Amino acid sequence: MSFLQKNDDLKKYSIIDTRQFKDPEVLDKVLNLASEMEELSDLSDNWIRNNELHDSEKDRLVELREKLYLSDYPRKPIMVSLFVQPSTRTSFSFTSAMKRIGGDVFGSENAKDFSSFAKGESIEDAAEVIGGYGDVIVMRHPGDENHPGNKVAVNFANSCPIPVINAGAGTDQHPTQSLLDVYTIRKEKSRLNDLNVAFIGDLKNGRTVRSLIYLLAQHSNNKIDLVSTDDYTLKLDMKEWLREKSPKTGIKFYEYDIDNVVDVLRNADVVYMTRLQKEYETGRTDAANNSAYILTPKHVSEMNKDSIIMHPLPRVDEIDPAVDDDPRSKYFEQAKNGLYTRMALLNMVLTEKHGITDWEYDSEKAANSYK
Ligand code: MLT
Repeated sequence: MSFLQKNDDLKKYSIIDTRQFKDPEVLDKVLNLASEMEELSDLSDNWIRNNELHDSEKDRLVELREKLYLSDYPRKPIMVSLFVQPSTRTSFSFTSAMKRIGGDVFGSENAKDFSSFAKGESIEDAAEVIGGYGDVIVMRHPGDENHPGNKVAVNFANSCPIPVINAGAGTDQHPTQSLLDVYTIRKEKSRLNDLNVAFIGDLKNGRTVRSLIYLLAQHSNNKIDLVSTDDYTLKLDMKEWLREKSPKTGIKFYEYDIDNVVDVLRNADVVYMTRLQKEYETGRTDAANNSAYILTPKHVSEMNKDSIIMHPLPRVDEIDPAVDDDPRSKYFEQAKNGLYTRMALLNMVLTEKHGITDWEYDSEKAANSYK
């Protein structure tokens, strides 16, 4: 049975950073598994809500269930949900995902106040102890001035005896969000290369922007347009990484001031809106209170007919709700896709039976950051 084969080094199945998914073929397999999870969910939902499945659909449901359920385990595998920073959709979608593939979940949505972190326990000790209670840990941590989010996630995973899935690390990384983002892009645009992707808003603090850029840069001939005010531009280390990557995959990036947003919108295949992340600007008295740019139906009318609008959510004021009815708005579908993608990722870390193992987490490499 698959779970017996990997007990030696479970840690290597952690998901911390999107740079682990640098091989487009591996990513493709992950997204294909997520597609099957979508089919399983749709058929199950349809059965539960309407009980209206044809015979062929019932056969398919049985087939998918056999393939995708965590039935090789001697007991229900347990996901520990440890959120040291607020979250509703990410934690709920992980919980729903784990239960939909036959697992169990417990945890804390408020680990900052109600766990031993509040008493000053170190990340390493917490990882060692909590790792003894479950089979996979889903963790979100904001990091702090001295311990950037990704470093906390890496230290936690390196000290934990079971796989860790990073559900958001400070302003650094949010790998499961970006995997669901590329799932959405592939579903809507049928490709992950030759794309013109516009990122708009807070590009400095947005971890979803960073981790998605890493994935886009692994595919050929993508162009990234970065639109923000001067205060919220993409950090320098990312721009350097993109320049290094450019000769290999042809990734190009251009920066624009918010005043030029309409030109950018006209050329975009994907418009990725982000909110202002005020929680990371607490020391600043001059931080903006509202988004500098609000996408309205008038702006959307300038976009290509087959372009799409995405947003990691929650939305504050950066997309006018009047845009929601436009068929190009995909942000609510995107959130739903998070369920299927997380079902696939949980399944991958808990079983080798789908043959997807090449994204393994290299703890030594991670300690020096991924290249
Ligand atoms: C995140 O967790 O980073 C969210 O999905 C995006 C946000 O908080 O704005």
